[in-house]
Amino acid sequence: MRKVTIPHLMEMKASGRPISMITAYSSWQAAMVQEAGAEVILVGDSLGMVEKGFASTVPVTMDTMIDACAAVSRGASSPFLVGDMPFMSYEVDRAQAVANAGRFIKEAGMDGVKLEGGVERADTVKAIVDAGIAVVGHIGLTPQSATLLGGFRVQGKDLAGAEKLLADGRALQDAGACSIVLECVPAPLAEILTEELSIPTVGIGAGKGCDGQVLVFHDILGLYGDFRPKFVKRYLDGGKVLTEALASYVSDVRERSFPEEGHSFDMDPSVIKELDRR
Ligand code: KIV
Repeated sequence: MRKVTIPHLMEMKASGRPISMITAYSSWQAAMVQEAGAEVILVGDSLGMVEKGFASTVPVTMDTMIDACAAVSRGASSPFLVGDMPFMSYEVDRAQAVANAGRFIKEAGMDGVKLEGGVERADTVKAIVDAGIAVVGHIGLTPQSATLLGGFRVQGKDLAGAEKLLADGRALQDAGACSIVLECVPAPLAEILTEELSIPTVGIGAGKGCDGQVLVFHDILGLYGDFRPKFVKRYLDGGKVLTEALASYVSDVRERSFPEEGHSFDMDPSVIKELDRR
C-alpha cells in the first residue's frame, strides 16, 4: 500500500470512500492493522486502559505515548499515523502544546497528532498547525474530560449541545485541523457535521454517516474485558481464544507433552560419555 497522506484522505471524503482507522500501541499490532488495509492508525491514549491497566486515560504520560508511537512507526509505514496527545500535555500553554506535538513527529515518527476539545482548543490547534504539524480534532465525548461532561455519555442530544458541537467542528476546521473524530454523537447530528465540514469526520459511536470509522484494536478483537460499549462490534472473542491456547501450553507442560523431540536440540552422545559427572 502507498503511504496515505492528507490529500489522499480528503480525496476519499470527496469520492465517498469510507476511511478505516484502527488503534494500535505496539509494532506487531501496527503491522497487523497495516496488513488489514486500514488507512489510518491512531495510537490512542486508550492505551492507558487497554494495555496499562488504568481505569481511565487520564494517567497516561507523554513518555508512555512517545514510546508506543515509536513502536507503532517501526511496525507500519503505509497508513497515516496519528499520536494522541495525553491529558495535560496541551492544555497548560500553547508553547508547551507545540513542543509536545513536535515530539510525536521528531521522536516517534508520527504523521500527525490528535487532541480533544473544540472551540476552547482552536487556538492551540492553530498554533500546532502553524508549526507545521497535522492535527486531528476530537469532539463529542472527550474521555480526558469525562468528569466535566458528567461521565461517559452521548453528547449533543439537546439543542444547546448540538449547537456547541457544530461550533466545535467549524472552529477546528477553521483552525486548520485535517480531520475530526466524533465520539458518541447522535447519528443525525454526525451526518450534518460531515456534510458541513470539508475535512473528513471519523466516527466512533456516531453512526454510518461519517466519512470514516474508528475502533479500538482490543475492542474489535475481544481482548479487553467483558465491558462492551453499544458502539463496539466485536469480530473475534480473542481473549477466550488466546486464553485457551495459553491453557493448552500450561497443560502440556504439566503433562510433559511439551516440549516434543522436534522442539529440542541433540548433541554427539560421545561428548556426554566423556563428561566427568561427579
Ligand atoms: O484513545 C483512543 O483510542 C481514541 C479513540 C477511541 C478515538 O481516542
